[in-house]
Amino acid sequence: LGAGPLRGKHVLVTSGPTHEPIDPVRYIANRSSGAQGAAIAGALVALGAQVTFVTGPAAVAPPAGVRLVAVETAAQMLAAVQAALPADAAVFAAAVADWRVVRAAAGKIKKDASGKPPVLEFTENPDILATVAQMASGRPRLVVGFAAETDDVLAHASAKRLRKGCDWIVANDVSPATGIMGGAENAVTLISADGQEVWPRMAKAEVARRLAERIAAALA
Ligand code: C5P
Repeated sequence: LGAGPLRGKHVLVTSGPTHEPIDPVRYIANRSSGAQGAAIAGALVALGAQVTFVTGPAAVAPPAGVRLVAVETAAQMLAAVQAALPADAAVFAAAVADWRVVRAAAGKIKKDASGKPPVLEFTENPDILATVAQMASGRPRLVVGFAAETDDVLAHASAKRLRKGCDWIVANDVSPATGIMGGAENAVTLISADGQEVWPRMAKAEVARRLAERIAAALA
């Protein structure tokens, strides 16, 4: 096993979107390349951590050296996360779909001859981050969430940290004008109980390296 400050530590990372089926050929999902989550998992491996990487159907390849758990839906992601615990730290970078279709059709939904589109009934998905952050026992020592916002980024992200019960929130502005969604760079603010730390715009790989170093320091 590798050396490094995270040697002997187990870190869980969720990444990518989830796909919630409508029928066998259609789904709803959030927009997510999985690039930031994969970079974080890779940076944690580089610091010697044992990393469980729970990923939805992402556009980027998973990093080398992780224990890979590929899932499709939010329900599967929650089950995979719970099965992977205990962990010293958990980073929730996945863009989980907030809703799923109540009864996905077993066969492909056909276009109605009358031109009437189908009506889908949705139910809320479990909040994986909040579920883990609020565990009564066996909670990872450090729970990190993300907040991708388009307006009042820091206010919404701080409120989210308290509401979900996580230790840190990595807040970023994903307004289309920033080019961050699907891009190579990110501009984040790290929010903890100690306050807010604005990081300059940098490569997603560099955000990942810095975050992994902060995680190592917090677990030391
Ligand atoms: O509430 P919102 O989706 O903006 O919160 C984002 C954070 O919560 C991210 O860390 C995301 O991975 C996590 N999350 C989750 N399960 C959900 C929704 C969000 O783990 N169902």
